[in-house]
Amino acid sequence: MTTGEVVSRFPDGFLWGVSTSAFQIEGALEEDGRGPSVWDAFTAVPGNVKDGTTAATACDHYHRYREDVALIHDLGVVAYRFSIAWPRVVPEGTGPVNPAGLDFYDRLVDELCARGLEPVPTLFHWDTPLALEESHGGWRHRDTAAHFADYAAAVADRLGDRVTRWITLNEPAEHTLLGHALGQHAPGHTLVFDALPVAHHLLLGHGLAAEALRSASGEARIGIANSHGPVWPASDDHADKAAADLYDLLLNRLFADPLLLGRYPEGIAELMPAADLAADLKLIGRPLDWYGVNYYQPTKVAAPDGTSTDYAGLHLPADLPFTPRPIEDHPLTDFGWPVVPEALTELLLHLRTRYADRLPPLIITENGCSYPGLDDQERISFLRGHLHALHTAMQSGADVRGYFVWSLLDNFEWAEGHARRFGLVHVDYPTQRRTPKASYHWLRAALHAATDRP
Ligand code: NOJ
Repeated sequence: MTTGEVVSRFPDGFLWGVSTSAFQIEGALEEDGRGPSVWDAFTAVPGNVKDGTTAATACDHYHRYREDVALIHDLGVVAYRFSIAWPRVVPEGTGPVNPAGLDFYDRLVDELCARGLEPVPTLFHWDTPLALEESHGGWRHRDTAAHFADYAAAVADRLGDRVTRWITLNEPAEHTLLGHALGQHAPGHTLVFDALPVAHHLLLGHGLAAEALRSASGEARIGIANSHGPVWPASDDHADKAAADLYDLLLNRLFADPLLLGRYPEGIAELMPAADLAADLKLIGRPLDWYGVNYYQPTKVAAPDGTSTDYAGLHLPADLPFTPRPIEDHPLTDFGWPVVPEALTELLLHLRTRYADRLPPLIITENGCSYPGLDDQERISFLRGHLHALHTAMQSGADVRGYFVWSLLDNFEWAEGHARRFGLVHVDYPTQRRTPKASYHWLRAALHAATDRP
């Protein structure tokens, strides 16, 4: 496969893009009336971020967005997935809208359109306004879903003339698991299975926001970005299979089933707080225009062995009823995540089988890896492998319409701080100098060669 062929095998009109999120790149946390988010509070607590950094400046994208849009344009992709910071737009989470916060996204969207790039905004990428968390219980409380929909309506009102493709939520599974069950992400709750209501409120927030976006514009094309990955039992033992099944439920089915089938996986509905669950599920299960998949890695799971686990960036307490196990014979990224491109093919074909005609067209909304250095040959090999795996799945019938690399830039990787670098473009944080890595040049050449073909 030549570089050009990697991309030219995909259909015309395929949506090539790059992804970022607000808190991870913007900085300017106190500018133009932005309110604090749960992540501002979480990163201020010593020990919560491994390398002790904060996102106070991050990539300073708030001031350098023009340079960043130029990098996206020069890369040759056609779309940019970014997120809108709820606390910039509604600083208290509910109540008055801050027009200066919307102005920033207005400028960004104009800049993208001027460069011929499609803006694909995500409305929630984990940065809940702190005031909502502190005085209303954040996503533990049902009202947050309604406040989220009001914020979505304000954004649609301002940007809906230029944005058609919307993402309501990013990875609600991680936000529930890491942020509310295990306390490794903001807001830092350690509710373990008592975090399940958070999942329901996030889904309800999705449903209400989707309604708000649709009533703002008949052109709106609504999707969501859910994380997915195959979950494999460590052995054929019944206990390991049961543990893998539970992990699979939490990662792959807890959100996808209600969204795509209009029901919770068995045993879950009874645990969800709702006066009228059937009505909530009807709203949540309203057909999506497209479905976003964030894929990074498969997981191998065993029954609990009584030891605490530090694996793949997840620090799981020993009392959870499963223990992730390493996946052997595959290279690892510097995060320790196994590189298994064929698991992407498996995943896409599995989604097709499980959800059949309820599954809308897919877009890979995130795929990428962390490695240090500018000559990032490992990232090139990761991308090449995963594009090949994606193409294989499409040949076998998976209906995938786009692919977004995570990420355009090295950025603030949550509890890992600046230690993990996912960018196609290197960021030197002290000087904010951007330097395209070898992978950026490789992808640019691949996209260029493909477009130039007769
Ligand atoms: C998924 C999240 O959406 C994103 O914010 C994060 O940086 C990447 N995974 C890498 O961990």
